[in-house]
Amino acid sequence: MSDKPVVLILAAGLGTRMKSHKAKVLHHVAGRPLIVWVVESAREAGAGRVVAILGHQHEEVRAVLDARYGQGVIGVALQTKQKGTGHAVLSALPALEDEPDDRIVVILTGDAPLLRPTRVAELAEACRRTASGMALLSTCPTREVAYGRLVRDDSGMLLRIVEHADATESERAIDEMNAGFYAVRLGHLRSDVASLDADNTQGEFYLTDLAARAAERGGAAVIDAPFEEVSGINDRIDLAEVAAVAQQRINRALMRSGVTIVAPAQTFVDADTGPFGRDVWIGPGVHLRGKTQLADGARIDVGCILIDTSVAENAHIKPHSVLEDAVIGPHAHIGPFAHCRPGTRVDRDAALGNFVETRNTHLMAGARADHHAYLGDASIGANANVGAGTITCNSDGFSEYKTVIESGAFIGSDSQLVAPVTVGRNAYVAAGTTVTRDVPRSSLALSRVKQVDVEGWADRFREAQGKRSKRQEPSG
Ligand code: UD1
Ligand code: CA
Repeated sequence: MSDKPVVLILAAGLGTRMKSHKAKVLHHVAGRPLIVWVVESAREAGAGRVVAILGHQHEEVRAVLDARYGQGVIGVALQTKQKGTGHAVLSALPALEDEPDDRIVVILTGDAPLLRPTRVAELAEACRRTASGMALLSTCPTREVAYGRLVRDDSGMLLRIVEHADATESERAIDEMNAGFYAVRLGHLRSDVASLDADNTQGEFYLTDLAARAAERGGAAVIDAPFEEVSGINDRIDLAEVAAVAQQRINRALMRSGVTIVAPAQTFVDADTGPFGRDVWIGPGVHLRGKTQLADGARIDVGCILIDTSVAENAHIKPHSVLEDAVIGPHAHIGPFAHCRPGTRVDRDAALGNFVETRNTHLMAGARADHHAYLGDASIGANANVGAGTITCNSDGFSEYKTVIESGAFIGSDSQLVAPVTVGRNAYVAAGTTVTRDVPRSSLALSRVKQVDVEGWADRFREAQGKRSKRQEPSG
């Protein structure tokens, strides 16, 4: 059998202080649910098995885990009533039935996403080395918190943990606190957790009472961790603070890898984005979400939002563009103020300019739509030029139809292309044309009304208006 630790994640609580319809561990930090952060730390630390202890909204949480890791890859133990952290671990023991007594079990809280994988490994290692078979993380909080206090004897051995609610005045003065992360040999866990009582102010089964059991075996090993790394999320203020720390970590890692971030405090990059190439440049106020990836030299200018979008080498996304589920080719230019909706593909050297909206549209190499256009369900051939104000009329309110603009075609300004329709290779569409049937290659399509010039009309009109307005001037 492997000696990789098993990891339990405490995540059955509701998180009352979030004041949310959603379970706390499903709230997001940098685009990832809290529980996923914890699972990632466990897996990166080399966990053999990960079991989440779920209660509130267990179906929703399980669905998130299954969708990300595959059906049942993350084990689930149910704690139907939340009777305390000790009771939560007790509920998970049946899931570990086939594990040997000397297996190390690491217990993490589902609402503390910043714990580093190296710390998880350190905790397991400390447990492996100590005779008591227990290790835990302590911290000295930098603000007031209601954490459990570590009570040590004169020799420094950890005697017990006293919960804030149960602590005396002098115990509350202790600044060494329980961070809420543990590693325990399964044999001890089995015997100690089964014998817990709820004889305390909160009437809960405290996992923290295990520290006193470990004291009978020589004392738990204690590892000090920075508060920033272990602080959990209880309310939405914590959520924002933890998110800021997570974002700082992500942005720093990017900068170390060769990405310029002009204003890190105003740059929001989800944890699961990437990879990002060298010399990527990210301006202030940019949001990169989902599975977005950026190749070498990509430039994402001020205020852009990219969701599940990939940008190839040296493409430039100009300010305030919004792209979702789009694929942008090398040296392409997008924006400013462009909106690329799902299914947009822009090939090499192609360009979408100001106030152009696209959806399910493929712009081939060198094609351009530089100003004000709506291009939906369209295929636009290489080097075609789409003039300002062009609209593909792709929907009749029930179905969508395709517009094909073949390579080298030129669509004059303010044209409507009523789909399904094809404009042939190298054809011209005159400005203001409503195209309702296919345009043969190399021809000109023209559908506007002939111009009429009425000579002298403007002067006569002005004269007549002038007389009228004089007549209407108020007298006196
Ligand atoms: C716990 C510790 C405290 C420590 C603090 C650090 C106990 C008794 N106290 O307190 O010493 O300083 O964490 O943050 O453990 N949970 C369940 N089932 C339950 C109860 C809780 O799964 O029946 C889960 C919660 O969802 C949460 C975690 O356990 O993820 C911690 O529970 P919480 O109630 O927040 O414990 P604290 O009072 O913060
Ligand atoms: Ca807590």
